[in-house]
Amino acid sequence: MFRALEMAPADPIFHLNEAYAQDPNPSKINLSVGVYKDAAGHTPVFASVRRAEERILTAETTKKYVGIPGSREYADVVQALLFGPGHEILASKRAETAHTPGGTGALRVAADLIKRVSPEVRVWVSEPTWPNHANVFRAAGLAVETYPYFDSETNGLAFDRMLATIREIPEGDVVLLHGCCHNPTGIDPTPDQWVAVADALAERGLTPLVDFAYQGLAEGIREDAAGVLALCAPGRELLIANSFSKNFGLYNERVGALTVVASTQQDAEAAFSHVKKCIRSNYSNPPAHGAAIVTTVLRDPELRDEWEAEVDAMRNRINHMRRLLADTLAAKLPERDYGFIKAQRGMFSYSGLSPEQVDTLRNEYSIYMLGSGRMNVAGLTKETIQPLCQAIADVLGTTSL
Ligand code: LMR
Repeated sequence: MFRALEMAPADPIFHLNEAYAQDPNPSKINLSVGVYKDAAGHTPVFASVRRAEERILTAETTKKYVGIPGSREYADVVQALLFGPGHEILASKRAETAHTPGGTGALRVAADLIKRVSPEVRVWVSEPTWPNHANVFRAAGLAVETYPYFDSETNGLAFDRMLATIREIPEGDVVLLHGCCHNPTGIDPTPDQWVAVADALAERGLTPLVDFAYQGLAEGIREDAAGVLALCAPGRELLIANSFSKNFGLYNERVGALTVVASTQQDAEAAFSHVKKCIRSNYSNPPAHGAAIVTTVLRDPELRDEWEAEVDAMRNRINHMRRLLADTLAAKLPERDYGFIKAQRGMFSYSGLSPEQVDTLRNEYSIYMLGSGRMNVAGLTKETIQPLCQAIADVLGTTSL
């Protein structure tokens, strides 16, 4: 089976982590994969998570299966986090939530569900988007198309072109949106733009699939749900794939969820019966530990307060690094305008560097970022800002843009 088999291409994000690990340069800087680091350059376990784990270990009496969609308690805390207490969707019971292995697992279950109930549907993703989106949908047998998102002239959102394309997408297709902190650009629609997108989707009969991996990292837990909520008008359907990798720091526990919102409770229940079929034939049922942590933290007022404070501190540090990055670049390259970096949100900054410039930074300075020019701002520290900006200034000084 495997004789003379060609190597598959390396993953554009995780292979950089491996290359970084093997780089002997003591001054190397890793801004590739989206993982938060604190001021000392560590990716900590949240204190609220530790306390929840202690409670779980003490109380745990069994390791039996959690069931195909995970626990009811987990589904309830996820829905409350997404929609906010008292939301119409909760009252009308037209949402169902399955616990999945990470946000990527949620996207794959969503893709399998779409393929199962509507096999001809195409999925439209932003150009650019997270490189793994197309892999996940194509692996489920779905065709992937793109809509414009980034305007390289303004380093901002190509909103008019985005909306014009959405208005021409054939009825019934799925449009993938990033709930906040767009990956890789860091550029999000404004609240008014979200409403316009939501209306255009509804007018065309398109189903939004929201990849919501960074709730709490732009402005706040509730504030960051504004985009999702704009899509939640009564009767409208949507799918939400959310992740607790970043906002709980639970990267290696693989904990996320797929939420299906239908127009009625009856439709939601029918859709969920198909979700369970997709899960059962894929990984059977989810791993328990990460969801137990999230459930424990969100159901306990004291742990929840502690967690929210930890998310606030993480977001504040990221925003501080972002401002420092923009100011340091502006000081080193006064002829250029780096205001656009300050307007970006979340973990990432789309630097505008070309693939060649990114290669030079890696080969000559041991600075690792994605070929698209995406930098993980959440991986910067006060110590790495200066050498990073100096290297960028050197590279921009020797190459024409
Ligand atoms: C990223 O974009 O770096 C993260 O979402 C991690 C991943 O799975 O690619």
